[in-house]
Amino acid sequence: MNRPTDAGSDAPVRVLCISGPNLQLLGSREPDIYGRESLSEIHSRLAARGRVLGVDVEARQTNHEGTIVDWIGEAPKEGFAGMLLNPGAYTHTSIATLDALRSGGLPCIEVHLSNPDARERFRRRSYVARACVGRVAGFGADSYDLALEGLVRLLARRPASIGEARPTGVDT
Ligand code: DQA
Repeated sequence: MNRPTDAGSDAPVRVLCISGPNLQLLGSREPDIYGRESLSEIHSRLAARGRVLGVDVEARQTNHEGTIVDWIGEAPKEGFAGMLLNPGAYTHTSIATLDALRSGGLPCIEVHLSNPDARERFRRRSYVARACVGRVAGFGADSYDLALEGLVRLLARRPASIGEARPTGVDT
């Protein structure tokens, strides 16, 4: 994949990555399901992958549903072009997160380390899926990197408004 460049402005394309409840415990939390990599290791790798792809990745984690809603709502004003979202258990419960995604309108990829569809029945429902472009699940920590690749390709394909930063060097 070629290195993306910036189409209409000098500003870098910015991607927001949000991880929800209990994901701060990655590394020690149920490692047979979620792997041994910590969230800060995942964030470092994601930032490095972002540099290769020519985008700035800002990664955050919270245990609080309202904070996820706030971050999603503020993301367009903060200048983010798209989002990666692992809502953790809120995936299966949070209509507020679905509504926030719908209101914001930024493209969002749903991310999971495990494959929720292959687990307990209650994990098979995703409320956020209806407002996401797609989902990457089941690849462990790699799910984040693969989702970033997909989002960058998507952003490169979308027509940019005048002056809007977007990756353009991606072969799509
Ligand atoms: C998870 C899957 C959810 O079902 C679970 O509640 C999590 C992590 C994942 O990344 O695999 O907390 O989102």
